[in-house]
Amino acid sequence: DWNIEDFITNKVSEIKDVVKDQHVILGLSGGVDSTVCAALLHKAIGNQLVCIFVDTGLLRKHEAIEVLKNYEVFKDLNIIKVDAKEQFYQALKGVKDPEEKRKIIGRVFFEVFEQEKEKHNYASFLAQGTIYPDVIESLSTNGGKTTIKSHHNVGGLPKQSTFKILEPLRELFKDEVRKVGFELNLDETLVNRHPFPGPGLGVRILGEIDESRVKILQEADDVFITLLRKHQLYEKVSQAFCVLLPVKSVGVMGDNRTYENVLAIRSVDTTDFMTATFSRLPFEFLEEVATTIINKVEGINRVVYDITSKPPGTIEWE
Ligand code: XMP
Repeated sequence: DWNIEDFITNKVSEIKDVVKDQHVILGLSGGVDSTVCAALLHKAIGNQLVCIFVDTGLLRKHEAIEVLKNYEVFKDLNIIKVDAKEQFYQALKGVKDPEEKRKIIGRVFFEVFEQEKEKHNYASFLAQGTIYPDVIESLSTNGGKTTIKSHHNVGGLPKQSTFKILEPLRELFKDEVRKVGFELNLDETLVNRHPFPGPGLGVRILGEIDESRVKILQEADDVFITLLRKHQLYEKVSQAFCVLLPVKSVGVMGDNRTYENVLAIRSVDTTDFMTATFSRLPFEFLEEVATTIINKVEGINRVVYDITSKPPGTIEWE
């Protein structure tokens, strides 16, 4: 049987033993996994930890500001923001294949951490908030024939990397990570945030990514999430987001024909994120979301609701 206090005590001593007097870089995303990972490492090694928040250019609207604000409560946690937008956009230019996108994003994250290394006492460790489902879904199933999807932070370091990896949450499920977070006195708003994948909007813009599509998706997603909060639905669903499709459809606005992008909205209920059902959101609410998005967000003239559960769908579309 799993005991939270024992888990924390054991991990803290394990981390101390492994790290000794060296320094650790942690990729902090603002999500629950990396936040709990930060809290655990901080408890173990204090200021030998430096957290790096990477602005990938694939974040949600206001994400960078909100995330950093959320961490203001941790007075003595070292957090550094790195703007790597151009690096990500450049590397993703022209790429359409979902797995290829995921691999590129994973690689650029490592490159950014390598670039930061020398500024932070040549940290020898790279810590990541990888959890158990990330590991299994990235590994191959049915005898090694297929990977479901390569999580951006799984699959090991590039060959030339000099980091050693620390993944203290690797055996945990999401609900267990949250329990550890509460036990470490983390704030409810941090612990109960919906998950946001490391590759961010990169796997929610199907097909090729460019800055103008990022902007469209950021605006639409902001409308959806704001309305969920306004109607007290945000806490009721496990994860909600928008997906920008590489498809255009015909519409009519006023007296004019439109020919614009289709947006899918997705909301799921789950505890472990290994299986999920689509949220039974009220039709009136969905209607308000669709109307508001189409009126406010230039570039979208049709909104559809994803009613696929997992399996057979995955939560993200790529
Ligand atoms: P899927 O799409 O596999 O998603 O059903 C399950 C959960 O994992 C999140 N997800 C990721 N998180 N890096 C992450 O940190 C990734 O590469 C990644 N891919 C999916 C997804 O948002 C959902 O919560």
